[in-house]
Order: sequence, then C-alpha cells, then structure tokens
Amino acid sequence: MPIPAPIRRHHHITLCTGGAQEDYDFHTKVLSLKSVKKTALYDGDVPIYHLYYGNDLGEESSLVTTFPMRQSGRKARRGTGQIRWLSLSVPQSALGFWSQRLASHGFAVREASRFGERALQFQHPCGLDYELVGIADDSRKPYSNGEVPSELAIRGTHGIVVSVREHEASNEFMTEAWSGRRIAEDGRFVRYVFGDGASGQIVDFMLEPELPQASWTYGEGVVHHCAFQVDDYAAQDAVKFRLEGLGFTDTSERKDRGYFDSIYVRTPAGALFEATVSKPGGMTVDERYEQLGSSFQIPPPFAHRTQELLAYLEPLRY
Ligand SMILES: [Fe+2]
Repeated sequence: MPIPAPIRRHHHITLCTGGAQEDYDFHTKVLSLKSVKKTALYDGDVPIYHLYYGNDLGEESSLVTTFPMRQSGRKARRGTGQIRWLSLSVPQSALGFWSQRLASHGFAVREASRFGERALQFQHPCGLDYELVGIADDSRKPYSNGEVPSELAIRGTHGIVVSVREHEASNEFMTEAWSGRRIAEDGRFVRYVFGDGASGQIVDFMLEPELPQASWTYGEGVVHHCAFQVDDYAAQDAVKFRLEGLGFTDTSERKDRGYFDSIYVRTPAGALFEATVSKPGGMTVDERYEQLGSSFQIPPPFAHRTQELLAYLEPLRY
C-alpha cells in the first residue's frame, strides 16, 4: 500500500525563551519579524506568555512562537534528543547585511555551511541557537513594514536541526510515519524533506551521541516543538492513525489552539513534533488584519481568570 504524504511544511516552531521583553525586542527589533499575536499558553495552571512572530499575516512556515519562561523561574537542560537549531531563510544577497546588522546589535556571528548552503549562526539572548541561511529563490512573502526592507527580510523558516544519539530510529520515524524523504548526508547531518524540499520543508538530524537528554518540560533555553502543516482534519487523522499503527502511541488527541488544531507526538529522538491544521482565517480569527498583534488576546482556557492573568504576567512594552 502506498504511504500517503500528508506533511506539507513547517507550520510554526516554538521555543522556550527567557524574559518576555528580551524575546520581543530580539524578534521584532533585531530580526524585524512582525508580532502577529500576543496571547498565553493554553495549557497548565500558571500563565505563560505565548508570543507569535512571522510575516504580515502570520502564515504557515513564517511563524516562530515563544514561551518566555524567565518569570516562571524554570530553566531547561540543554542536550541531545531535542530540536537544537532554528534555521530561518533570507535572500543569499542579504547575508552580508545580516552579518553587519547582527554584529551592530552585539551578537557574535559565525559563518557556516551545510548541504552547500551558507549560513550565519548566532544565539538568541537566552542562548538558543539560530541560523540565517542564504537562499536564492525563496518566494514566500516577508513582513513588509519592518525596519528591514522586504528585499533583505527573513522569508520564514528554512529548517530545524534535531540533535540525536543515533540516526536509525529517527530515519524510521521520518520516512514511515512523517512522510519525509531522506535526500542527503553531510558529515554528522542527515537531511529529510517534504514536498519539493524548499525552505520551510526541511528537517536535519545531527549526531551528538555524547550529550545527555535535553528537557522535555517548559523551561528557559530549549526548543519546545516543531509544528508541521497538514491540509485538513482527514490528513491529520491519517497522520495519527499511521503513527499509532506503527506503534508511536505517544500521540495526543486533537487540541484546539485557537488559530489552528493540533496533534502532538513524541518522536523516538525525544523531540516533540506537531501536525497542525490551520483554521479558516488563521491569525485573524480574533483580530482584524490591520490590528494583528496589537493587543493581548486572552486564551480561552483562562477566560474565567482574565484579571488574575493580566495582573500576573510580566509587563511587556510594545
Ligand atoms: Fe505548536
């Protein structure tokens, strides 16, 4: 029986960062992404901001979202068995601009190359590893009203790098459960792609057998998960049935995340993946396009605790 290929591309990548203001300023002022939503995590009993950054509409594969954890006091353990790097796509011709811009904001920038792609590597202020990868033909529309002009701006996600102790179990997961195609190896890296394998459709695995398991919990300084777009509920159900049929029964029920519906699976490497269906309207379900990201949105699970939530969350200037 042919294996269906329901995974389209990244939907969003979610990080546990440090202070909310530090995180907001890094993404909106340094990287010049748009703040497309300010809300709080839907899970748990202690409020944690959930900040979304992306392009004008916060479209799929443009989104980086963060849980600023410093207020909670919870720190993550870094290590393997977790997504380690976030790669974002910029035009090749913009790498020089970004190198200078990052340096002028005080970031240490290192040039690197993987699978023939040139990248600038640096760290989020909380220590998370970021890359800007130079891509010649990324047609996704960037945020158009930021400080950085469109022709130089970040297009969206390029890939993620998952740190693993060994490749075999992840290969099985990626090819049999997650409809990825293994296309290349480069030293300790293995690359999987979806669709035509363009930016936003890439997952790299990196061998790091010497490191301990990183945190699974929400804690400052670790990537929490990567979400992948599927077309509709039927595709999402097909992903869940396939996962469970293969024995990956650490798969969640469908969860309503306000702007999309999600199922989650703990992958054999330890990293958390999500298969996501966007709701009609996406980020505009609770704010008009013109107002997108301009005010805090109370997460529905906290609707009965609005005043408590607002009094608790650390101040955020925007
Ligand atoms: Fe998510």
